[in-house]
Amino acid sequence: MRADAYHPGTKGDTTAGSLEQGRLTLNVGPRSLGSRFFADDGLWRNAPILTGKGSFPPLPDVHNILVTGGEGFIASWLVRHLVTKYPEAYTVISFDKLDYCSSRHNARMLESRPNFRFVHGNVTNEDDVVECLKRYQIDTIFHLAAHTHVDNSFGNSYAFNVNNDFGTHVLLESVRKVDTVRRLYHISTDEVFGEVETGQGDLKEHSLLKPTNPYAATKASAEMMVNAFAKSFKIPAVVIRLNNIYGPHQYPEKIIPKFTNLLRRQMPLFIHGDGKHTRRYLYAGDAVDAFDTILHKGVLGEIYNVDSRDEVSNFELATKLLGMFGITNMESWIQWTPDRPFNDRRYAVDGSKLRRLGWTQRVTFDTGLAATVDWYSKFSRWWGAIDNTILAAFPVVKDGQVIGPAPNEPSHIMHVQKETTAGAVCDVQTVATPAGNGEVLTTFERTGKKRPADEAVGSMVAAEIAQEGPFAVSVECNGGASPKKRKVEVLD
Ligand SMILES: NC(=O)c1ccc[n+]([C@@H]2O[C@H](COP(=O)([O-])OP(=O)(O)OC[C@H]3O[C@@H](n4cnc5c(N)ncnc54)[C@H](O)[C@@H]3O)[C@@H](O)[C@H]2O)c1
Repeated sequence: MRADAYHPGTKGDTTAGSLEQGRLTLNVGPRSLGSRFFADDGLWRNAPILTGKGSFPPLPDVHNILVTGGEGFIASWLVRHLVTKYPEAYTVISFDKLDYCSSRHNARMLESRPNFRFVHGNVTNEDDVVECLKRYQIDTIFHLAAHTHVDNSFGNSYAFNVNNDFGTHVLLESVRKVDTVRRLYHISTDEVFGEVETGQGDLKEHSLLKPTNPYAATKASAEMMVNAFAKSFKIPAVVIRLNNIYGPHQYPEKIIPKFTNLLRRQMPLFIHGDGKHTRRYLYAGDAVDAFDTILHKGVLGEIYNVDSRDEVSNFELATKLLGMFGITNMESWIQWTPDRPFNDRRYAVDGSKLRRLGWTQRVTFDTGLAATVDWYSKFSRWWGAIDNTILAAFPVVKDGQVIGPAPNEPSHIMHVQKETTAGAVCDVQTVATPAGNGEVLTTFERTGKKRPADEAVGSMVAAEIAQEGPFAVSVECNGGASPKKRKVEVLD
């Protein structure tokens, strides 16, 4: 850890908040500095420093930029971009509570640079925020800290409300207190508009907000707070709405890295519902170029949609990824699961206002997807163990940790077809467990002749699976010439 990485008084996950005599009191649990976030395994040293492509002449009135959620996916792209593209002009402070989806690896490569700082703090804690704004004389804020996984928001809506809406509220009140901030860029989502039917025109910036899930509702509500503070207290704010962003550094609870990591383990993909829901995808580097364009050329007080040309259904996405992994018998690699309580069929925003500032989508979906799959093949251990996250259709997060599949979620059966070096085609059937272990329920089946495989074939298949994945597989036979049960250990 950098010597001047800064840790204000309280850290950890906020579960509740109250206002007493104008002062915020929050229930925060401590997070140990010995946690995985502060253990450095050096993996980041081999990683490329990924940023956007463009840059602009620096602004004379921008010096110290706070990026909230800076150790998460999109914000860390922005932090890397601003630190490396503007080394003389801008000092960048990454402020993050280090939730389960973040990684200090996302910005560790910047720690030797004089214009980068990391602050371990919580946006729901006014003391943390005000102290940071004062200490670093912040004049510009990009606010990205949020709970972001829609699936989790159905079971844990209070945490989404506290972090996304209340957190934004605290940030705004803190800005009022210090009076040094001249620009506040609030990052929001196309989900605030709710579902857009096929054939309906793309939505412009001032279309009606009609969120349909708890995550989107908290993001819409945060936007309302930003608008209200901008009007009431003249806070110079801009709202930026993104569609789905993807790329390296995204925690593998989201569909692209989750599918990629499942396929790397030769495990089938979960598709919620009928798989026909579409999303528009933009590569993270393009999103960061959009932020940079709005910072340098945008107008304070405005809203900007950031859009993408690439609208892809979940089934099409699965098909593309299966193809990239050389898998042709697609249907047997897809496990259909019940849908979310509600799932918008599609979102569609119009980003022409931003394009008029000169921004354009540079990276096509196929190019960005290939780069993303390649990155995960090299850095799948970025967040430590991720089995609880990827092996469940609906993982559960508690106290800042992913603790496993949702209660009552049926263990999913994984079928893997393997051809052994001896030419036998075997079906390996396993059941995932919350602990990330697999158990082979049936024995292997040789092509043309159904019979339990012997121990030698079992071991051979296990060894081959192990070679292909970032995990160890061991086979234990329960005795006899035709063992009924074998254990497969999946170690991330
Ligand atoms: N990923 C997308 O496709 C997408 C699309 C539209 C909008 N957005 C918005 O962009 C922003 C970033 O999204 P992401 O996908 O990179 O998120 P992410 O989940 O990867 O990262 C969020 C980061 O915020 C931090 N954080 C959460 N609550 C905090 C708090 N109370 N105090 C301090 N830090 C906190 C987390 O530790 C994490 O590092 C969010 O505001 C999200 O709503 C994301």
